[in-house]
Amino acid sequence: MRISKTLLALGLGAALAATSFAQAEDKVVIGFSQIGAESEWRTANTNDVKKAAEELGIELKFSDAQQKQENQIKAIRTFIAQKVDLIGFVPVVETGWDNILREAKRAKIPVMIMDRDLKVSDDSLYVAKIGTDSYAEGRKMFEWMDNYVTQTDRKARNGGDKLNIVILEGTVGASAAVGRTNGFNEALAASPNKDRYNILAAQTGDFTRAKGQQVMESFLKSYRDDIDILISQNDDMALGAIQAIEAAGLKPAQDIIIIGADAVKGMFQAMIDGKANATIECNPLQGKIFFETALKVLKGEPVQKVVYVDEGVFSADQAAEVFPTRKY
Ligand code: AHR
Repeated sequence: MRISKTLLALGLGAALAATSFAQAEDKVVIGFSQIGAESEWRTANTNDVKKAAEELGIELKFSDAQQKQENQIKAIRTFIAQKVDLIGFVPVVETGWDNILREAKRAKIPVMIMDRDLKVSDDSLYVAKIGTDSYAEGRKMFEWMDNYVTQTDRKARNGGDKLNIVILEGTVGASAAVGRTNGFNEALAASPNKDRYNILAAQTGDFTRAKGQQVMESFLKSYRDDIDILISQNDDMALGAIQAIEAAGLKPAQDIIIIGADAVKGMFQAMIDGKANATIECNPLQGKIFFETALKVLKGEPVQKVVYVDEGVFSADQAAEVFPTRKY
């Protein structure tokens, strides 16, 4: 990266940034470790990262970890060896990052987090996180469900006095799964309507369509005539589950209420087709703010430690109208 006079004039406050800039050649170079391509959401997130880097004239070294933390650690180590200006990554799981982030710190390379959260012993191991609030998303899943069953005066299919819920959880140990689980469970426990619900089963579907379908098939084998509500921690798993529900001779969105998370186009189409009821948005369009923040970090400017992107809630009755405006 070649240091422009303008950048120099801005004063390179942070010691980390100053070192990186001193090794400058042409462009700002950022190493980015993505977790993989498990969902429609993730593809949109990756596309947005690449587009934003290009628009801001950043040289992006992109690495796909294929869902493995060890691959992310290797990629980060490679970025350190390559002396990139800044490292960004989406932590596939919350824990296990301390050592590699200490290596980055020793090399004086600032680190930023995108999308998911992590737990480290020392918060100064990363400078900022741009992403989503999974806990809030989990709460919204409960709130939408509770309002809907209240408004529609929903009764249990098996004639019992509780509505039976099954939950498709995301990747084990991922903040997007942990946060959504905690948000949902805590909203449920605090609700005056909590006695209305029974959680029949919860299992990971790893945020993929194929596993969502597979796990829903096993839920249906055990509880075909009992399930009233499916909470799916992402839309891809919900879309897989819809196939399992239809194959079991049930009507998705009618026999079983289906609530997903992400608000991807595939889920909008399912809602338009009358096969899903709602989706809680998890916004993947984080690239621009991520790289703008990175550039500020490299200039030594102050940045906010955590920034959450805006997210909405969409139900089947709005789907056809909103669909043409969706960007992912
Ligand atoms: O971390 C965000 C989650 O990861 C999205 O909900 C999901 O689709 C993705 O795989």
